[in-house]
Amino acid sequence: MTILAMDQGTTSSRALVFSDDLRVIASAQQEFPQHFPRSGWVEHDPDDIWTTSAATARGAIEKAENPRIDAIGITNQRETVLIWDRETGQPIHKAIVWQDRRTADLCARLRDDGVEDQVTDTTGLLLDPYFSATKIAWMLDHVEGARARAEAGELAFGTVDSFLIWKLTGGRSHVTDATNASRTLLYDIHKGDWSDEMCRLFDVPPALLPELRDCADDFGMTRPDLFGREIPILGVAGDQQAATVGQACFDPGMMKSTYGTGCFALLNTGDRAVRSQNRLLTTVAYRLDGRTTYALEGSIFIAGAVVQWLRDGLKLIREAGETGALSARAADGQQIIMVPAFTGLGAPHWAPEARGAIFGLTRNTGPAEFARAALESVGFQTRDLLEAMRADWQGTGDAVLRVDGGMTASEPAMQFLADIIGAPVDRPENTETTAQGAAWLAGWKAGICPGPQDYARAWRLDRRFRPAMDAATRDRRYSAWQRAVRAVLSV
Ligand code: G3P
Repeated sequence: MTILAMDQGTTSSRALVFSDDLRVIASAQQEFPQHFPRSGWVEHDPDDIWTTSAATARGAIEKAENPRIDAIGITNQRETVLIWDRETGQPIHKAIVWQDRRTADLCARLRDDGVEDQVTDTTGLLLDPYFSATKIAWMLDHVEGARARAEAGELAFGTVDSFLIWKLTGGRSHVTDATNASRTLLYDIHKGDWSDEMCRLFDVPPALLPELRDCADDFGMTRPDLFGREIPILGVAGDQQAATVGQACFDPGMMKSTYGTGCFALLNTGDRAVRSQNRLLTTVAYRLDGRTTYALEGSIFIAGAVVQWLRDGLKLIREAGETGALSARAADGQQIIMVPAFTGLGAPHWAPEARGAIFGLTRNTGPAEFARAALESVGFQTRDLLEAMRADWQGTGDAVLRVDGGMTASEPAMQFLADIIGAPVDRPENTETTAQGAAWLAGWKAGICPGPQDYARAWRLDRRFRPAMDAATRDRRYSAWQRAVRAVLSV
């Protein structure tokens, strides 16, 4: 028995075929172009999203020597907005990506109107262009005739999961899951349903919205021509939530942090939707059998992307993997601090206009010090998130951070992370946690995979990084980082 996990991310689409004991049998990946029509705008071509997803799915199945696929799980970049014609399936505009800042003014106006508290009460989110609702409104207002057609029920909105399911099912299913819905600013996280009040506030016609499902649920059957026969889609979760599931963070107090382009830390808060006093997000971790488990989330926009900048922008390295060795040559006496606010700062600062800075340069500063500062910036930013989480969450939990994502391959980055947060950092044997989470959701629904408790027992540690920095150094270094961030925010 096998499961196909489709992972549609911000820069690439991936597909992995899993065995019923959740080992990866084969995988395929394709990058696709990013479009930056103006400063701060980021778009994807919906056709690229679909064709790379379909091609990698077929590619992974072929590489696995065409096994019978029993279920499909989908996980995806969240918040990104697509709107298409229900009749023709044609998108009305390019997808507006989660990183896109074009609605910053609208968010600021709404904040000035004093509605942010009401928005947070209902959705757990903040008024930031990161989320979907203002992007939907922008599309309806800038594509001729779109608003009238949306009101007449002719158009459909979806995050990437919803769009892929529409395509996979040949337009038979217009659905999404609770985790993706919880990132739109239109979903009442307490009622577990779309909010009419939020639809009115953001000027989004409810007729656009998909039907809601649990994360392990019936999302429809694929078109028979795609994979030679119909396959049920049985699991869906936004990528950070899928990673939370993949990391088996099923108990309140457990937390994970995923290091991709950005970094997203989620702390399971059980059946309590904890309202953050520190500008973290309250979000749906997963919804299983109609029961919602909540999380506090901290989102950092630049993590692995800082290493890409060393490679592509500064050309200090040829491959990301060289960063650790380069940083090991940095002079101990130099304490360079890099605040990589290239696209503003996310949690807990939420400063879309902030830009990056480097502090402490001397005549001796060179590539090695830049590399070390880049890796350390990821640890410092994670500590900012964990500080906010500790202040918001007085519940139980053993303060271990489970990590995954490409950057966790860097031993120096993970060691510094453990040092600066002052807590153990656990890297699992399987770092394909996002896809694995989606595969498990689908496999569990299909009756192929074990339930949550057995799945959690099967989680395997690769390496625990223990804090080795003394407390005084940790405090001194973190204070220096905080001063650097304050300086960035004051420019
Ligand atoms: O919220 C955005 C997040 O879901 C994007 O993740 O891994 O595609 O950069 P990723």
